[in-house]
Amino acid sequence: MSSRFSASACGKIILFGEHAVVYGRPAIAAPVTQVQATATVEPGGHGLIIHAADIDRSVMVDPHTSIDPLAAIVNLTLEHLNCPRPDLEITIRSTIPIASGLGSGAAVSTAIVRALAQWSGARLEDAEVNALVYEVEKLYHGTTSGIDNTVIAYQKPVYFIRGEALQTFTVAQPFKVAIGNTGVASPTKIAVGDVRAGWEVDRARYEAWFDRIGAIVRQARAAIESGAIDRLGPLMDQNQVLLRDLDVSSVELERLIFAAQQAGASGAKLVGGGRGGNMIALVNDHNVESVSAALRDAGAVNVIVTEIK
Ligand code: PMV
Repeated sequence: MSSRFSASACGKIILFGEHAVVYGRPAIAAPVTQVQATATVEPGGHGLIIHAADIDRSVMVDPHTSIDPLAAIVNLTLEHLNCPRPDLEITIRSTIPIASGLGSGAAVSTAIVRALAQWSGARLEDAEVNALVYEVEKLYHGTTSGIDNTVIAYQKPVYFIRGEALQTFTVAQPFKVAIGNTGVASPTKIAVGDVRAGWEVDRARYEAWFDRIGAIVRQARAAIESGAIDRLGPLMDQNQVLLRDLDVSSVELERLIFAAQQAGASGAKLVGGGRGGNMIALVNDHNVESVSAALRDAGAVNVIVTEIK
């Protein structure tokens, strides 16, 4: 029997509703399987060590460390599995850009939980994986809605309301989005903290913006469920206007959004925390190539096309 266990988790995009989702409004998110985080667990020397191979970082896991998110997810998972503390090496590789709105932190945590469960011979339900990863998401994001861990642990499109049971929904007609990366890393925690600071100063104004975002999300769900894909582009544009109001866009994001629209995308918006990271544009089979090329010309360091189904 092999003593090496590997598990993977996908990335995600928020199609509609980021930031407002922290304040109880709904959001729609979908998995992005073109990017993945993988964790490999194998017997090690002394103690428990994590290698984040892509960023050349190693962490010794102390049973009492809970500040470091990598150590925290290992400790929480071993506790949950009721395992003795083994000598292990855990290697992480990921093609998901860090701090870029694609759920890199939640995906790395999810891959670690699944690989450790395999190693211990346990079978964890998606709901258990989700709950463990959520604990660590709080370290990454500060105030967090839990949307990233949910869409990644279940790996299906979700209609998410903070604190409520998972709702999946039918995609009546699959559609494509192009995801453009500005190349600017932007920690979600900072954008979320700044929105919180603004909300503290002027709650009425922020709550009104969140209400308008919530209304867009509900319309988007109805459009996706009825196959009215042509309604999604304008809804993305409206969502982006409100994200600008929340001051989470950036010059680089706006440049890519404008380029996508000029190249024929029927709508575009930033995804995730914002201020950098990735944006999405609604594309179809006729304009997917021209929109992708326009995004690269406008400075995107990477473009991924994914289908929502
Ligand atoms: O930046 P990301 O991909 O981690 O997305 C965060 C989404 C927010 O709504 C901004 C925060 C949250 O916890 O929901």
